[in-house]
Amino acid sequence: MAYTPQDYGNLLGMSGFGETLLNNHFTLYQGYVTNTSKVLDKLEEMLRDGKEGTPEYAELKRRLGWEFNGMRLHEYYFENLGGGGRIDKEGRLARKISESFGSYEAWERDFRATAAMRGIGWVVAYEDAIGEKIVNFWINEHDVSHPIGCTPLLVIDVFEHAFILDYGLKRADYIEAFFENIDWGRVEGRLT
Ligand SMILES: [Fe+2]
Repeated sequence: MAYTPQDYGNLLGMSGFGETLLNNHFTLYQGYVTNTSKVLDKLEEMLRDGKEGTPEYAELKRRLGWEFNGMRLHEYYFENLGGGGRIDKEGRLARKISESFGSYEAWERDFRATAAMRGIGWVVAYEDAIGEKIVNFWINEHDVSHPIGCTPLLVIDVFEHAFILDYGLKRADYIEAFFENIDWGRVEGRLT
């Protein structure tokens, strides 16, 4: 069954995010959804036809992680926006963050610094349920270096398409706008 693009039109009008930028970003996201379904359909068809031993099949298998994660990372990103940007400092998530980093502020400094790194990609605050801690990971490509078994809590897109139209090279201003619009309730709901 094909994946269906989610509608994030509720984010239009959000402070610090221009409509053109957001609409472009939604279109880009929809491309990942379409391609994820296309790759899965093609793999299914090739398997049915006994073509699983071919280089074409192998290449599509390699492609799947890129398209699927491109889809899912954008969904996490858009869904953790549209809020008021204020975390409940007494809440379960803030406590967990403080336990992991010593304080909420230390975690935020780490997250912002990671998002401001040179290069394009994603930053994801992951919950490692086994190690019982939260770790901010730099993700260079959609399909590479996600920590296994961990749960994504907060996701920021730092590919240039996510900010350059509104902010040019001022990535720190984009990160600030992102923080002002985080839906912390949604993020806390992702805790295991
Ligand atoms: Fe993006």
